[in-house]
Amino acid sequence: MSKLTTSRIIFILLLLNSSFPLLVFSTKCHNDDKNTLLKVKAGFANPTDLPWTSDTDCCSWLGVTCESDTNRVNILEFDSLNVSGPISPAIGALSSLSQLYIRLCPSLTGPLPRSITKLPLTSLTIRYTNLSGHIPAFLGLLTNLTDLDLSCNRLTGRIPAPIASLPKLNILFLSNNKLTGTIPPSLFSAPPIREWLDLSDNLLTGEIPPSLGDADMLSIYLSGNRLTGDASFLFGHKRAVEVDLSNNQLEMNMSSLSFPRFMRTLDLSRNRIYGTIPDSIDLPTVYTFNLSYNRLCGRIPAGLQYFEESCFMHNKCLCGTPLPSCPLSPTAIHGRSYVAA
Ligand SMILES: *[C@@H]1O[C@H](CO)[C@@H](O)[C@H](O)[C@H]1NC(C)=O
Ligand SMILES: *[C@@H]1O[C@H](CO)[C@@H](O)[C@H](O)[C@H]1NC(C)=O
Ligand SMILES: *[C@@H]1O[C@H](CO)[C@@H](O)[C@H](O)[C@H]1NC(C)=O
Ligand SMILES: *[C@@H]1O[C@H](CO)[C@@H](O)[C@H](O)[C@H]1NC(C)=O
Ligand SMILES: *[C@@H]1O[C@H](CO)[C@@H](O)[C@H](O)[C@H]1NC(C)=O
Repeated sequence: MSKLTTSRIIFILLLLNSSFPLLVFSTKCHNDDKNTLLKVKAGFANPTDLPWTSDTDCCSWLGVTCESDTNRVNILEFDSLNVSGPISPAIGALSSLSQLYIRLCPSLTGPLPRSITKLPLTSLTIRYTNLSGHIPAFLGLLTNLTDLDLSCNRLTGRIPAPIASLPKLNILFLSNNKLTGTIPPSLFSAPPIREWLDLSDNLLTGEIPPSLGDADMLSIYLSGNRLTGDASFLFGHKRAVEVDLSNNQLEMNMSSLSFPRFMRTLDLSRNRIYGTIPDSIDLPTVYTFNLSYNRLCGRIPAGLQYFEESCFMHNKCLCGTPLPSCPLSPTAIHGRSYVAA
């Protein structure tokens, strides 16, 4: 046997020796995670559309993702599953779970277990479920959370201040619930960049906190609430590309507002906005635009004349294309009546 062949055989033996156990116990899943997931499944009344069985590798289960280096479960996704009842408190033992998504699971009910505060969560989504009750203030303990989506549930009560001041939160979706009270003044007041806020279609009252004007947000959706006061501080903002404040009770003078040039959405319809549309308005990339049902007056600037009539209808005295043409200017009318008299 040549020296080369011998070393080759030794090499192969070493290889076999190290990979053999992996071949026999090919499951990557950590036993603790598997046991926890089976408890979570049992908590959901063992839904038949969740085919998790103990004889298979939990890292390959539907909706389960494991970290590649540690093989610990780090992402859990339940989409359109017939999971019923509340989330089992057992979930708190998934020590590496950083993303939890539960979407379109109408039989999921509340409340959220406090044990989720033991998870190192960065993303939490529970959307289109039957989750009800208050948003628990203990979510404020999830200090690594960057996005929180609890929209389209049946949540009631106020937005807890500890959530509003989560230090890394840059996406907050709480739309389509029955939330009441005011928007917490601390919301998005910490420095990092804020991307997206959607609190639409709730029962929120009071004024929009000025902190939202300071947060350099890309998208602000507050439509369909009962918000009052002057929201001018949200404009003149460099980055905002989507602002929907429609269907509220906001009162502000539009005459001297300036708008970020590259807005995609500007919907201020169904409020109590007065004054005139500034001639300087220039929105070359706007896709959704609506100023209807306000108290605006004066000529529609040339740059907006390509929008349809419904974007301007039901104002106090807006005129010009696409609405009927403006009456003669007040001085002309005055002059004429003077001459006539
Ligand atoms: C959902 O699961 C429950 C109990 O686990 C069962 O009674 C119900 O029929 C299921 N619904 C659907 C649509 O499969
Ligand atoms: C959600 O809750 C409502 C009100 O309790 C109930 O009528 C409805 O059946 C629930 N939906 C599901 C899918 O469980
Ligand atoms: C936040 O993340 C850091 C770094 O990944 C981690 O050490 C810490 O335990 C996490 N904190 C919480 C509350 O999850
Ligand atoms: C709105 O603002 C404009 C320009 O700043 C001002 O001339 C006008 O009087 C204001 N309108 C009302 C009703 O306050
Ligand atoms: C503008 O808003 C009004 C009032 O909500 C609505 O009736 C109209 O269809 C909207 N127009 C467009 C183009 O979306």
